[in-house]
Amino acid sequence: MKNIAVAVDGPAGSGKSTVAKLIAKNMNIVYIDTGAMYRTVGLYCIENGIDTKNEKAVCSVLDDIKMDIKAQMGGQTIFLNGVDVTSKVRTQEAGRAASDVAVILAVREKLVQIQRNMAKGTSVIMDGRDIGTNVLPKAEVKIFLNASVEERAKRRVGELLALGENPDFDEVKEQIRKRDENDTNRKHNPLRKAEDAVEIDTTGMTIDEVIDKISDIIREKIS
Ligand code: CDP
Repeated sequence: MKNIAVAVDGPAGSGKSTVAKLIAKNMNIVYIDTGAMYRTVGLYCIENGIDTKNEKAVCSVLDDIKMDIKAQMGGQTIFLNGVDVTSKVRTQEAGRAASDVAVILAVREKLVQIQRNMAKGTSVIMDGRDIGTNVLPKAEVKIFLNASVEERAKRRVGELLALGENPDFDEVKEQIRKRDENDTNRKHNPLRKAEDAVEIDTTGMTIDEVIDKISDIIREKIS
């Protein structure tokens, strides 16, 4: 079978990573979580007292950030300067920092290069905000996942509870709304549905239903 690329984009909490991970497992292809890379840059800034809204300050430490990503069956492990930060980058704080540093062009260029290299010579499913529009514009399959803000906030609260955090629903909802605004309105590679992407509104759908729908689209495109 020839290598294929599946691009999955969408706003925070639309279910991208959950479904992309499971589809990767079912199809035996590599899963690449690009959000975790922006989160890792955000985490480095938090840990080193760098203001994530200060472009100059963030750019001045970019060369100090060495990121290694090991794509494995069922997920990916991410190392920041040799330390496994896979779980550490999942916090709300790292998510906010990620959204801040993601507006900076130099950050995006560094990470997009890593992402394109990882997709070379293998079949991948990659999730993020700009995969179908910018990172892999020639991807054979492009999916844009969406869901209402309420539903996405509910899902995010569940995730945070599982991580041992104590989230407040209204606060989480407001943060999701702000993150949508930030991601949609930024200058470089904003969150946008690619013209040739299939949009799926996952509000009220189960994970299995979303996976079935995407798997059908993939089968149809590659047959
Ligand atoms: O999991 P969640 O949807 O909350 O976020 P994520 O996918 O881990 O991404 C965190 C942040 O990184 C997003 O809010 C975006 O600002 C940024 N990001 C991006 O700009 N481009 C990507 N390809 C992936 C993430």
